[in-house]
This record gives sequence, structure tokens and C-alpha cells, in this order.
Amino acid sequence: MNLGRTHYAAEINESLIGQDVQVAGWVHRRRDHGGLLFVDLRDRTGLVQLVSQPSDAGFALLDRVRAEYVVQVRGTVRARPEGMVNPELASGRVEIVPQEVWLLSSAKTPPFSIVEAEDVDELLRLKYRYLDLRRPALMRNFWLRDKSLMVVRQFFHEHGFLDVETPALARSTPEGARDFLVPSRLQPGYFYALPQSPQIFKQLLMVAGIDRYYQIAKVFRDEDLRADRQPEFTQIDVEMSFMDQDAILSLMEAMLHRLFGEVMGVTLDPFPRMSWAEAMTRYGSDKPDLRAGPPLLTLTEAARRLSWPVLRDAPHVVGVQLADYQPSRKELDGWAETARQLGAGGLVWIVREASGVRSSAAKWLGEVGLDTLAEAAGLKPGGTLLVVAGDGWRPYEVAGQLRLLVGRQTGRMEPGWRFLWVTDFPLFEWSEEEGRLVSAHHPFTMPHPEDLDKLERDPASVRSQAYDVVLNGIELASGSLRIYQPDLQARVFQVLGLSEEEIQNKFGFLLDAFQYGAPPHGGIAFGLDRLLMLMAGADSIRDVIAFPKTARGTDPLMNAPSPVDASQLQAVHLAVKW
Ligand code: AMO
Repeated sequence: MNLGRTHYAAEINESLIGQDVQVAGWVHRRRDHGGLLFVDLRDRTGLVQLVSQPSDAGFALLDRVRAEYVVQVRGTVRARPEGMVNPELASGRVEIVPQEVWLLSSAKTPPFSIVEAEDVDELLRLKYRYLDLRRPALMRNFWLRDKSLMVVRQFFHEHGFLDVETPALARSTPEGARDFLVPSRLQPGYFYALPQSPQIFKQLLMVAGIDRYYQIAKVFRDEDLRADRQPEFTQIDVEMSFMDQDAILSLMEAMLHRLFGEVMGVTLDPFPRMSWAEAMTRYGSDKPDLRAGPPLLTLTEAARRLSWPVLRDAPHVVGVQLADYQPSRKELDGWAETARQLGAGGLVWIVREASGVRSSAAKWLGEVGLDTLAEAAGLKPGGTLLVVAGDGWRPYEVAGQLRLLVGRQTGRMEPGWRFLWVTDFPLFEWSEEEGRLVSAHHPFTMPHPEDLDKLERDPASVRSQAYDVVLNGIELASGSLRIYQPDLQARVFQVLGLSEEEIQNKFGFLLDAFQYGAPPHGGIAFGLDRLLMLMAGADSIRDVIAFPKTARGTDPLMNAPSPVDASQLQAVHLAVKW
């Protein structure tokens, strides 16, 4: 036997008719049609059909194969008969008549079907991940991942970036999630932390003069998991010196344009740029989904003219408009319930029909009031207006959620790749948990130059030079310009209420480094898995990660995490207290 192949399945096409080829892979499906045997052979590229009848040389062996057996076949390519063509397969116009068949491995019946796209329990999928990965829909995602990384690396290489690896055994970094700790054997009682990002290292690389750095970096965060969160994930991590914010944004945007062009065949529009305050006011979110129809309406001014105090006296009144849609009573009640669950006092709806106006608040608003709101909102006949009132950002956030819910429920999400930059995030945010201001991004984020004088006086209102890339309502990347002046950094630490000791202990080495000539610098990190999830059209980042963890952070395949021997614990000076 000559182990090996001349072609992958998807490469078998009409140009090979009449030729001998050798293919190898797994038995995807086997069908016996009254003596005529059809076997779909699967490899990482797709399927190719083998056909054999009892008089053929390879028939006896091929007849013995079952699902998921590993086989190698040498045979002749021929055109499929009229009517048997499968346009969905790259090899769908041809088939192979085997001359020689080698059975390389038999297989137990898999615990779930590789063939059918059935709903399989996640635990089972992950326990048998090597089978799950055989499913063509999942396999495709790893081609996408590979190709995307090639394009990204090529882009950075062409633009003069150096790929530098940073340690995985490090210490706590400032991203603010919980660390994964690794006990030290040589230093009893001491721990490494796995990096939540290469943040500090990449800034040190700028001090070192690397100038343009990138890394496809594995990072670790011990946080509660969701569909778009894993405890270990991959960042496209980038840092640049001597560039202003505009230049950084333009270059990173060019990278995404290139990626989508080469991998998806999509020409992206230039990304709109929107300040955080504008995103919050117009979409009620710092990650607006631009697909869900027009922005929110600020109706506060108009509401001042109403006689109904609930709207008139509310600090903010926000509207969601649905053109050409008249919801049923059930839909309206559902949305009102959602608004309440999200923390709004209630929801006022106004439906403008040909025969007049229907409203949940007709009694209180009266005809004049309804007209005032409808006019302010530009509500046309046949349209609906949802109104939320309240204090602070809450009414915007609730209206923003309603905009998305209504967009989805009424089938109004526009297709497409709607990227945008959100800029000028607040520098600090209030932490209920800690009862103090904390960094919204991380403590090295550069304040907005126009707000420097408010740093001590009114820190909550200070904007930063931080930015996010958002795609279809999902945060893909975050970055910022960094503080490189020790005195400004000291002021920020002061506002954060960090003691000199804490500062020295946590970041002393970075501040030391900055005293030896730090260049102006800034950077960004993309969540690679999230990016690929969206590109692949997957529901979860688990579908673009070969061996992901469950929502409980476990790996059912290897049974990780797991207990360890007492001797291993002893070596790292630990005892487990149950
Ligand atoms: P940040 O913490 O915002 O920034 O992370 C950057 C991007 O990483 C992705 N991401 C995740 N993906 C999967 N699972 C997770 N648990 C997870 N957490 C975050 C998101 C996010 O936008 N050092 C800074 C970047 C910088 O300033 O340069 C940082 O890590 O897509």
C-alpha cells in the first residue's frame, strides 16, 4: 500500500475525469442501493462520492466499511450520471470508482451523528470534541481561523510590526477580572498570575523601542462565562509608538478592511466614529447595533410641554420609533413587561393608525399631549412610538434594549457588517462593589486633553482617549492612548485612591521604566474568537475554539480542572482545605 493521497475530496472535479486518483479519509455515509454501493468519503475539505458494484475490484472491501471507518481508496474519476449531480458539493459532478480499497481503521458507532446537524448536548459534544470537530460545519471554522490569522500576520508584517511573545507566567495585570494563579515551587507562598492581557509587557516593549508590536496572544481571565466569553481566549494584541489616535484608528481599520476583503470577499464601508456620549444617547449602549433601525429619539424637550407630570418632570424622556408597524396588544404588553424588568417605571406606547391614535397613556396625555409627542418624534401614520422616562442613563439603556428587541422580533434587523468606532469613553466609572471610582479601561489610559483640568475637580466627567471597535452590537476590540508622563500617571493614581505602597507594588516596575524615556504610545486588542464567531456566523465563541471550556469552566474531554496528587501539592507548598 502507498499511504498517502493525490487529492483532497474537494479537489476531485471534472478536470480529473478518466484519471486515477487516491483519496483518504472517513466514511461519512454508506448507502446500499440494491447491489450498488455508495460511500461518501470525508476529509477536512469536504466529501467525495465512491460508487462500486459487485463486479468491481474494490467492492468486497468497500462493502465492509461502516460509518467513521478510516479508508484509503485508489480509483478512477468519472462523471456522475444525469440527475445525480449534487451542486452543493465541490466534487458533486463526479464520483470515484474504486480499484483498490484499504481499510485503515474501524470505528465504534459515534455517540452522536457526524452527518446530521442535530442538536447535541454541549457536554457530550465537548467530551467527544474530536468527533464534534469532524462535523463539516465546525471544521469550516478552523479553515476560517487559519486563513484569517494568515491575513492578519501578513498585514502587520507589511506594516513593520514585530511579533514578540510575552510570558504566560507573569503577575497580575490591570484588566480587572479575577486572575488564574500558578503557585511557585521555588518561592514558597508566591504565585504567578496568568496574564489577562499582555498590557504591561507591550508598553514595556514600547519603552524598549520596538515601536510597532503585535502578538496573537493567549490570555486568561477567571470570570463568569457567556456565549462570547471563555476563561482563556486569544487577542490580536497591538501597540504602537509615535502615532496619534487618528492614525492608530485608521491603521487598525485598514487591517479589518483587508481581513474582510481577503477572507470574506466583502468590501467594508469606512467605519463611522461616534463618541461614547453620542452612542449612549442615540443607542442607549456603548456597543450600538447599527442594524436595528434608526437611533433613539430624545423627547425630553417636547415632554416639558406636557401636562402629565410622569413625562413632563422626568429628567430624560427617550423614544424608540417603529415606522410602518402596528404591534398587537400582546406584543406591546410584552415590551412593557421587558421595560419594567430592565428597570424602567413603565412604557408608554403610541400607535398612529389611519383612524386615529391608540396609546397606553391616552387618558393622561390627552389628544394634545399625544400630538405633541407624535410630532416631536416625527411619527407618521402607520407607525408606533415607544417612550421610556427616567433618570440618568437608565431610560436610554432601556430604550436601547427595546430597540434591539423590537428590531429582532419584527424582523427588522438589516443584514450586513455594521462596524463602528466608539471613542472618548469616560476615564473612570463608579464601582458599586468597591464604593469608589475605578478605571473604566485601565489606569494607564490617557485622559482627554480637553478634560485634564477636571481630573481632580470632577473626575467622573473626564473623558479618556480610549476607543472600541464594535461590530453588529458586539465589542470586538478595546484600546487607548497610554499615559507616558510619570506626573500625569501619579495624578490618575491619586484620583483612583491608590496608596504609594500599592502603586509601587502593582506597577512600580512600569513607572520605573517610564523614567528612562517613554515614547508616546497607544494600542488596542481585538478579541480574535469574537471576531471569528461573527465571521463564521456562529452563536458562540466555542464554535471557533478547538477545545473550549463549558459554561462552568470545565473541559469534559480531559476532565480539567482535576484534583492533583498530594505530592504535587506539597511540592508547591499548598494544602487544600475542603
Ligand atoms: P479588553 O479587556 O477590552 O482590553 O479586551 C480586548 C478584547 O478581548 C475580547 N475579550 C474576550 N473574548 C473572549 N472571552 C473573554 N472572556 C473576553 N474578554 C475580553 C473582547 C475585548 O474587546 N489590554 C487591553 C487592550 C488595550 O488597551 O490594548 C485589553 O485587554 O473582544
